[in-house]
Amino acid sequence: MNKRFALVAVGAALALGLSACGGGGAGSPAAGETSGGTAAPADVTVGVAMPTQTSQRWIDDGNNVKAGLEKLGYKVDLQYANDDIPTQASQLTTMINNGDKVLIIASIDGTALSSQLADAAAAGIKVISYDRLIRGSANVDFYVSFDNFKVGVQQGTSLLTGLGVLNADGSENASAAGPFNVELFAGSLDDNNAKFFYDGAMSVLKPYIDKGTIKIPSGQTDINQIATQQWKTDVAQRRMETLLTSSDANITLNGVLAPADIISRGVITALTNAGYGSGGKAFPIVTGQDADIDNVKLINDGKQYSTIFKDTRKLADEAIKVTGDYLSGKEPEANNTKDYDNGNKVVPSYLLESTVVTKDNVKSVLVDSGYYTQAQVDKGQK
Ligand code: BGC
Repeated sequence: MNKRFALVAVGAALALGLSACGGGGAGSPAAGETSGGTAAPADVTVGVAMPTQTSQRWIDDGNNVKAGLEKLGYKVDLQYANDDIPTQASQLTTMINNGDKVLIIASIDGTALSSQLADAAAAGIKVISYDRLIRGSANVDFYVSFDNFKVGVQQGTSLLTGLGVLNADGSENASAAGPFNVELFAGSLDDNNAKFFYDGAMSVLKPYIDKGTIKIPSGQTDINQIATQQWKTDVAQRRMETLLTSSDANITLNGVLAPADIISRGVITALTNAGYGSGGKAFPIVTGQDADIDNVKLINDGKQYSTIFKDTRKLADEAIKVTGDYLSGKEPEANNTKDYDNGNKVVPSYLLESTVVTKDNVKSVLVDSGYYTQAQVDKGQK
């Protein structure tokens, strides 16, 4: 088949029920290719569907993926869905109808895209699940992310280190017996990552909760009780306010497990409004994730203890590499083929490593690597 013709003929191929390029099986060529052939990059559009611009990380992700693909000559259709599930679904439908060849998707609700993905598969479009695993569909070809369970372990461990329960080398500090008052927050339940972060964090916190070193004043430890709908800052702030006003006024909070910077910000606002950080009332140990620039400032200001740095540049590079592989008929290399079962299949994955950042290593991790400039860190603004 003439490649250029094939590119514009996806809709027609669909209508005719042609499936020579479809199915998404391992090694099958992307739509618009003959077996073993590749379309010229300039003839290929890659659809990039990002969830929201409310957190710096997704803006960086979108920009990095777009710039990297454009550097290779591909066209890119980058869309943000404002955390609205129907918006994301319709953006994907448009991308499919426009004949995009690969879709890179950071989903809002990981279970809400099955019908779009079925259409994509029928059109021979490869689907890369970006950072968040898309669930309940066989039509997800690859997953690029971080080791999300480990991110949770890092959050739980840094909370314990900040409280002094663990020493910097991970050993137990026998003189810090507690009890420490800690409240727990989790992410959005429709995001597959939320459970991984929670499970990872609880794997290290639970033994200390069980033996009473850590007390949860609200008693809320179940993920369903502590989840934050759509990772919203204001939802987290309101829950923190409620927790503070409904607990015994004599209780001083020592720590908060916050699974992402976007949540930490709400938690920190509520704590500040309640008088923590002034009048001799020490700020609790608050965790986070993403190294958002505002939160790096909060870390330097002593309001947030830690964040988890996930280098979005590397994640973008990985997504670009996988896209390039699919578009040249190659099967991308996975480094994990067992942990990410989406309820329909185990999705081959490439997982990257993350780093705990506290005040001590902001410079060496975030500035020296060129992720931020020192001026951005000082201002707390990009
Ligand atoms: C991502 C986190 C992010 C969160 C909220 C998760 O899926 O892995 O990096 O903080 O979504 O946007």
